[in-house]
Amino acid sequence: MERGEVRSLEKRRRRRGLTMAAILAVLLLLIIAIILGVTLTRNDDEFERMFIARCRMFRGLGKPSGDNCQSIWDVFQQAYINRDPCEVPPEAYDGVIAAVPFDSTCNTTVFWSETKAVVHDFTEKKDCFKTVEDFLLGSVLDDLVWCGKKGSNETFTTDCPEQCQKNPVRSFWKRVSVAFGGTACGNVTVMLNGSLPTPFNEASMFGSDVLKTFTSPKVKQLNVVLVTQENSVTNCTNESLGNLKMKLNKGIGYRCSEVSQSKIEWCASAPEKPCSLCW
Ligand SMILES: *[C@@H]1O[C@H](CO)[C@@H](O)[C@H](O)[C@H]1NC(C)=O
Ligand SMILES: *[C@@H]1O[C@H](CO)[C@@H](O)[C@H](O)[C@H]1NC(C)=O
Ligand SMILES: *[C@@H]1O[C@H](CO)[C@@H](O)[C@H](O)[C@H]1NC(C)=O
Ligand SMILES: *[C@@H]1O[C@H](CO)[C@@H](O)[C@H](O)[C@H]1NC(C)=O
Ligand SMILES: *[C@@H]1O[C@H](CO)[C@@H](O)[C@H](O)[C@H]1NC(C)=O
Ligand SMILES: *[C@@H]1O[C@H](CO)[C@@H](O)[C@H](O)[C@H]1NC(C)=O
Repeated sequence: MERGEVRSLEKRRRRRGLTMAAILAVLLLLIIAIILGVTLTRNDDEFERMFIARCRMFRGLGKPSGDNCQSIWDVFQQAYINRDPCEVPPEAYDGVIAAVPFDSTCNTTVFWSETKAVVHDFTEKKDCFKTVEDFLLGSVLDDLVWCGKKGSNETFTTDCPEQCQKNPVRSFWKRVSVAFGGTACGNVTVMLNGSLPTPFNEASMFGSDVLKTFTSPKVKQLNVVLVTQENSVTNCTNESLGNLKMKLNKGIGYRCSEVSQSKIEWCASAPEKPCSLCW
């Protein structure tokens, strides 16, 4: 073999090595892309699957036929898919709210502001009070985050904006709370947090959106339950609660009770205790 031939053979071998490395790199990139693609699309399916699973769970296990969870999902996602996630107004959910009406909730409606855990612990154990999270849509979407994107039909669960007013999650809770407030009649209860200096916040969803859905004579009375703890700083005489009373529609009665968190917890766990005696 001549020297030149050896060198060109070596060169060819080296080139083949380079080609192999290039192929491997491309393969690796492809695999990464596929994995990423699968995770991203799975995100989408996962939210839908969770929505439908929670919906069926709510409808009751063992009743697979006859539930309309898939069609509820189809209407629900229309509210925000293919939209700028800061441009989803509460009205976008009108369709799904109409598709899943609330049962009558006379004397049992409870709202809460900054007292979620204690209220849910109570309504899980006692049937006499119900929050919006004890009904289908609220129960399905409790603690979830979702949004869409312009030019896509997917549902995303990460990087959803939280600061803008018209984000899909905030608008949903606004819309569903207003619908729930609209069904209230008789006595309505709201549980507020006595550990906060200002337990009634006019800017909260309850203060700014829900309160004005209560109309007399359908709603007779608003019962404020001010949940107190040992270190509580406010009581029923606080001025913010006076503001709440003044904001009520004319003809609706008002009552405020200071009830310790431990009493609420105890009452929730006492099955023989009628709710009317909890506070
Ligand atoms: C709600 O309470 C009022 C009295 O406050 C009572 O007249 C009415 O029948 C109750 N409604 C239901 C559905 O329990
Ligand atoms: C009231 O708010 C405080 C401070 O955010 C919180 O630690 C406490 O758990 C709340 N109380 C209730 C009953 O949720
Ligand atoms: C989104 O869905 C609509 C209706 O099903 C369809 O017409 C449109 O092409 C879809 N757009 C994208 C980006 O997939
Ligand atoms: C309505 O609220 C008032 C005052 O808290 C209470 O005395 C009455 O029993 C309540 N009625 C019903 C039906 O819960
Ligand atoms: C309620 O709180 C105020 C201070 O915010 C206090 O002066 C007043 O004594 C309290 N009233 C009762 C009945 O505890
Ligand atoms: C009572 O309410 C007012 C405003 O409505 C607030 O400024 C004040 O700090 C509240 N709390 C107490 C403990 O006084």
